[in-house]
Amino acid sequence: MNAIPGLDTCAIIALVDRFYDRIREDPQLGPIFAVRVHDWPAHKNTMVAFWSSTTLRSGDYHGNPMAIHRSLPLSAELFERWQWLWRDTACYMLSAPAAAHMIALAERIGHGLMLGIGLRPHNRVADVPPAGRMHHTHGT
Ligand code: HEM
Repeated sequence: MNAIPGLDTCAIIALVDRFYDRIREDPQLGPIFAVRVHDWPAHKNTMVAFWSSTTLRSGDYHGNPMAIHRSLPLSAELFERWQWLWRDTACYMLSAPAAAHMIALAERIGHGLMLGIGLRPHNRVADVPPAGRMHHTHGT
């Protein structure tokens, strides 16, 4: 059933455990979590359910991450830091194919979350000219 070598529930539990331990110690991300998360084992369980649902189709997660993140004081920089920490932890904890899968997935979901809560990811369509301006740039 499991298409990605080395990616199973045990691997996800280990990844989530280590990732959120690092999150808690992070000077920028830690304080945001400290305000909202008072029961870390419960939060880790939620995140294991989330990742098992997305990667192993366990169907264990039924939350609304968009609504939750909309109410948090987030920025593109914080998202990048989250993504960096996720990449680093995944590479350390998982087999190469499992890490590649989890990194790509987190990037896609994180990108969707950012757009959904109205943040603009860096290095993407940063400078679209206002409508109409492109018509008279010809031949100049
Ligand atoms: C700047 C980056 C991020 C910060 C600071 C952040 C912070 C948080 C916090 C504080 C919570 C707990 C909210 C609460 O229980 O009241 C949470 C929950 C959650 N986060 Fe994030 N997050 C970030 C990025 C992401 C990304 C990139 C993903 C997915 C790839 C993600 C997925 C989730 C999920 C699934 C939950 C659980 C929602 C639920 O309880 O149903 N987060 N996040």
